[in-house]
Amino acid sequence: MADDFVHELKLADFARLWGCSKADIFPEVRAIIGAHDFSYRILAGAERDLVLLDVIKRLDSGQLSLAGPEGLARWEKGWGENLSDFVASNDTKDLTPKYIRPGLPLRLDQQFIATRDPDFERNWYSAFRLWLFKTHLKGFASIFEFGCGSGFNLAQLSDLFPQTRITGLDWAQPSVDIANRLGETLNRPIQGRRFDFFHPDASLDVPEGSAFLTVGALEQTGENFASFIDFVLAKRPKLCVFVEPISEWYDEADIIDYTGIRFLAVRNYWRGFPTLLERLAKEGRVEILKTKRSHFGSLFIEGYSQVIWRPV
Ligand SMILES: C[S@@+](CC[C@H](N)C(=O)[O-])C[C@H]1O[C@@H](n2cnc3c(N)ncnc32)[C@H](O)[C@@H]1O
Repeated sequence: MADDFVHELKLADFARLWGCSKADIFPEVRAIIGAHDFSYRILAGAERDLVLLDVIKRLDSGQLSLAGPEGLARWEKGWGENLSDFVASNDTKDLTPKYIRPGLPLRLDQQFIATRDPDFERNWYSAFRLWLFKTHLKGFASIFEFGCGSGFNLAQLSDLFPQTRITGLDWAQPSVDIANRLGETLNRPIQGRRFDFFHPDASLDVPEGSAFLTVGALEQTGENFASFIDFVLAKRPKLCVFVEPISEWYDEADIIDYTGIRFLAVRNYWRGFPTLLERLAKEGRVEILKTKRSHFGSLFIEGYSQVIWRPV
């Protein structure tokens, strides 16, 4: 195939995908965008059909792991590997999660795309995360990340806001150990704490004016996130930043979106959150500050949609 990557994500596209204006994209974020190749081509015809067929076969394979209470051992094993690497190296690079796979087709604006740079998604995500954290999480004395996994976000938050008290919470013990070790290694106020979305710990101390963050974590709760939302309402953080896949925002009439809907359903990812949040907003219990479908994602889902809200 000729080098026909005729399209390219430009600054205006990043702004559109993130739901901001070009002027809201910081110079450091522009530098990441400028340093990487974001050219791509849209898959069509037989090539697109092959990707669709592959996705459908994966959906029907019975091989996909399911989200839910049985998943704990799998997460402990995965993050245990990151913990061992980090203990050996003391290098935060070893916290990079392995779930962003290079070289696969991606989804963009309800199309499958092929990219010239195999690390297109990882580079996009680096720019997005930096923009997201600097835009929404600056100036908080305390930030809590629920479902903090490898500690990858904790490290970046702490680099950006070294004075901020950062708590990484996860049901997997290695994640808690990574967060505590990060605090020791960087000599910053970072700590870990065990936390289960299915049984939220009411004894967690949340200082006034804190921010709550989740990134691809509540997706793991299936239909069992109501107790966590009750917990959030009770703790009254000043801001909640959720970056998660939102199945309800896909278009059932679009075949590529439909595969995303099916993938989320087959893996028992969360569903029903937009309805709950809208009801709470109508009841005057929360304020929804921003909702933004990401329109960009991996072969299977758009994992980067934003829901920014707060209890009132
Ligand atoms: C896809 S990972 C995302 C990790 C991290 N937020 C990131 O962006 O790299 C999902 C995380 O949710 C955690 N998780 C899944 N179910 C959970 C539960 N019931 N309670 C707390 N954490 C859970 C997993 O252990 C894992 O760390």
